Parts: sequence; C-alpha cells; structure tokens
Amino acid sequence: DRKVKIAPSILSADFADFGREIQAIEKEGADWIHVDVMDGHFVPNLTFGPPAVKAFRPHVKTFMDVHLMISPVDAYIDAYADAGADMLTAHVEAGPHPHRTLQAIKAAGMQAGIALNPGTPAEAVRDLLPLADMVLVMTVNPGFGGQKFIDMTAKVRQIRDWIGDREIHIQIDGGVTPETAPLVVDAGADVLVAGSAVFKGGSVSNSSVYGDNMRAI
Ligand code: DX5
Ligand code: ZN
Repeated sequence: DRKVKIAPSILSADFADFGREIQAIEKEGADWIHVDVMDGHFVPNLTFGPPAVKAFRPHVKTFMDVHLMISPVDAYIDAYADAGADMLTAHVEAGPHPHRTLQAIKAAGMQAGIALNPGTPAEAVRDLLPLADMVLVMTVNPGFGGQKFIDMTAKVRQIRDWIGDREIHIQIDGGVTPETAPLVVDAGADVLVAGSAVFKGGSVSNSSVYGDNMRAI
C-alpha cells in the first residue's frame, strides 16, 4: 500500500512572498515543495533560476522537488545542486542525451527525475528507469498553472507495470484536483503536484484554506 504525497507547486503562490508561502503550506501538511523552473524556450513562460531556488532552500523543511522545464539542462545541474535541490527532474524531450543528464544529476548528489510531456509515449523513459528515482507524467502541456487535466492514466499504468517492485516514484503534474487525483492514484501514481487547487482561496494569513484544499485532494 503506497502512501500518496502532496507536492504543492509554488507557481500558484504569491511571488512576492515565497518564504512565508512555503512555511504556510508546510505547516498545513505539504509533503514536498514543487518548484517549477521555466526558461521561456523549452516552455513559453519564465519563472526563476538557481539564485531564487537557493533563497527558497532555508524555508523548505520537507523536500525540495525542482522541476526543470528548460533546454539544455546539463550546464545547470551543478547550480541546482548548490541551490539545495533534493530531487532534480529534467524532461526527456529537453535534449538528445537524457541518460547522460540523469547520470549527471545523480553524480551531483541529488535524486533524479525524468518527465514526459503528454505527447511523449511511455517508451521514451523505459530504458531510463534504472537511473531514475521518479518519473513525472505531465497531465498538461507544461508552462502554466490552472490548465485542464489531460487523461494519461494508461501511460501511468504502463510505467507502474515496468517499475515493478523498484523504489521509483510516479509523479503527476497538471490539473490535479479532488476529481482527477483518484484516477491517477488508482493508475499507480504516488506523488501529486497541485498548484491552483492548493492555493486557491487562501493566503499566508489565511493558510488553513491551503490545508483544507490539500485534504480535499
Ligand atoms: C505546469 C507546472 C505545474 C503547475 C501545475 O507547467 O509544471 O507544476 O504549477 O499547476 P496546476 O496544478 O494549477 O495545474
Ligand atoms: Zn511542475
């Protein structure tokens, strides 16, 4: 029986107040903190880079899960290790050598995740599983919070079957709500990222709403 973790995405938090937002969602029971790094090239949006992620680190008491939506990746791996990432996830679509990228992430002392966009078949990560601590199955096209869930349950089931009894997480990111979460958990996911569904209606001064939102998922 797999314990499901909730990883709120601070992409939906107050960008002027990340430190207090992280403290508030952890107080309300977040298991991991999901940090969305976007480069305006791999995805059509920009967020923040290594110095900002390093500034988040002292506020994160749980586990800092950094999702890189950038291309290329390899030149930045050491900067995210230095910033204090616990898990570093790269996209399989980000370059021709995802196997090398996962090796480099692990050599830098972090856990390694591999992400797939909705249009990428499960087969793209099959030969990477021996190096992966997590597979991130995107259920939206990456770039923005608040998009509609795309059903990837068949892909999740296939990957869970290939994982077998290995200790590899399956993470879901995009459009996770109280309605969609049970579908992906049933298919074999164990880490749920949620941005808009966690932060909606709450604030650092009214953070019990974050707790209610997380428990609803
Ligand atoms: C999307 C990001 C997600 C995003 C999810 O590109 O990778 O982490 O914050 O937001 P919601 O939960 O609102 O779909
Ligand atoms: Zn993400």
